[in-house]
Amino acid sequence: MPGRLIVVSNRIPTEGASAGGLAVALHDSLRERGGIWIGAHPDDGPEEGLFEIGSEPYQRLAFRLSRAEYDSYYLGFSNSVLWPLCHRRSDLVQLRPDYAEGYVATNRRLAEMIATVAEPEDQIWVHDYHLLPLASDLRDLGLDNKIGLFLHIPFPALADLSILPDPPAFALWLASFDLLGLQTRADTARCLEMFRSDPRAEFFQDGSVKFGDRLVRVKSFPIGIAVDAFRSLAETSDSDPFGGERPQEYIIGVDRLDYTKGLPHRFRAFGEYLQRYAGTRRPCLVQVAPPSREVVEAYRQITEELEELSGRINGQHAELDWTPIRYIHRPIARNRLAGVYRGARACMVTSLADGMNLVAKEFVVAQDPDDPGVLILSRFAGAAEDMTDALLINPYDVGDIAQAIDRALNMPLHERRERHRACMAAVEATDVGTWTTQYLAALDACAGTLSVPT
Ligand code: UDP
Ligand code: G6P
Repeated sequence: MPGRLIVVSNRIPTEGASAGGLAVALHDSLRERGGIWIGAHPDDGPEEGLFEIGSEPYQRLAFRLSRAEYDSYYLGFSNSVLWPLCHRRSDLVQLRPDYAEGYVATNRRLAEMIATVAEPEDQIWVHDYHLLPLASDLRDLGLDNKIGLFLHIPFPALADLSILPDPPAFALWLASFDLLGLQTRADTARCLEMFRSDPRAEFFQDGSVKFGDRLVRVKSFPIGIAVDAFRSLAETSDSDPFGGERPQEYIIGVDRLDYTKGLPHRFRAFGEYLQRYAGTRRPCLVQVAPPSREVVEAYRQITEELEELSGRINGQHAELDWTPIRYIHRPIARNRLAGVYRGARACMVTSLADGMNLVAKEFVVAQDPDDPGVLILSRFAGAAEDMTDALLINPYDVGDIAQAIDRALNMPLHERRERHRACMAAVEATDVGTWTTQYLAALDACAGTLSVPT
């Protein structure tokens, strides 16, 4: 009998959990095929071991992080070392020995808990940067299962990796997986560059890397959304999610309030657009930016910066009957967002670095193909690798974004339709169902341990 699928991630969906691409994508794929999802419960539960939560079409097992683990493993090494490092913000990296120790110890504790539920035939699919040492820990505990990693965020450049306290340990963690799944071809190239710089690694033609007695395969699997489900959500959504307060013409932005999303650049560009291009036109920027990881100083700073900027731009340009930026610092449910996307003339994604960016894909799917809005997309979002017919911008160049806003709002219907059709084809090719199937087939095909002749 084929084994079960065990998905492991730091975040597990719970009632009221904060939004994020990983939870959305996995929830959809596990709902379709069943299995077990193991993850950290954000607030509650017994201090030790795994406990069952909720009743989904798949089993969910949670564990609780102690206060010290939350500080060192989650806020510390995951979000104050790996997150900035992978997103080209090494200036924000906080190197502290207790962060690294907490990260390693929490992963080890999680591996011990997983070892109590995993059967030999189960496939284990680990997600994201919080859990990089997990395969190495599970191997140490004697598990020989197929274990894959999917990294939802960018793979760091070799130069940035050298900032880590122990780069060789980082490579060994990754080499303990059977399959390393990355978002883009550029991420794959950077990952292979890391292995190439390591004297312990040997290469095979198909991109596999031999590391000790193990073989690890490195490949990109661009993540997507459940296209049909999201399309029908948008088609059947409330035609007036604004409750009578719908702006006449608006651009939508939806992002966790994260310094990687280029939100200050976006606001400044919108200000410049109003100044230089708008004339008598009065579009509105509707920006949904729910709080994220607020305890980390860099997040507190970006929140303050954005509040100051939206206040200033609104103060300069608002009229008695028009507020240029509608800034919502709270999460909005995804089913309501679908309707908001559909009514928008454009969507702005200005990430300075981003693994994929699911908002870009959701916006495209939500459009009416006969009269679609325009996607303005950062070159530095993973989504730009395949969605080359979006209006691609350099997010560091405020003038470039301002010009793109003008171009999007004036784009003739035939060009909007053509660009939308091409973007839609790219989104359909990465449907989350296909993504899961392709990843798991590749994991299944992995060789794992090499039989080394004695
Ligand atoms: N999202 C949401 N409500 C919000 C903000 C975001 O449901 O208020 C969802 C959004 O629709 C998308 C996900 O969160 O599915 C964000 O994923 P993305 O890949 O764009 O960014 P991430 O948060 O993973 O960096
Ligand atoms: C991104 C990361 C996910 C994370 C999500 C929300 O999508 O890739 O791993 O779950 O952001 O962040 P949070 O820290 O709230 O889980």
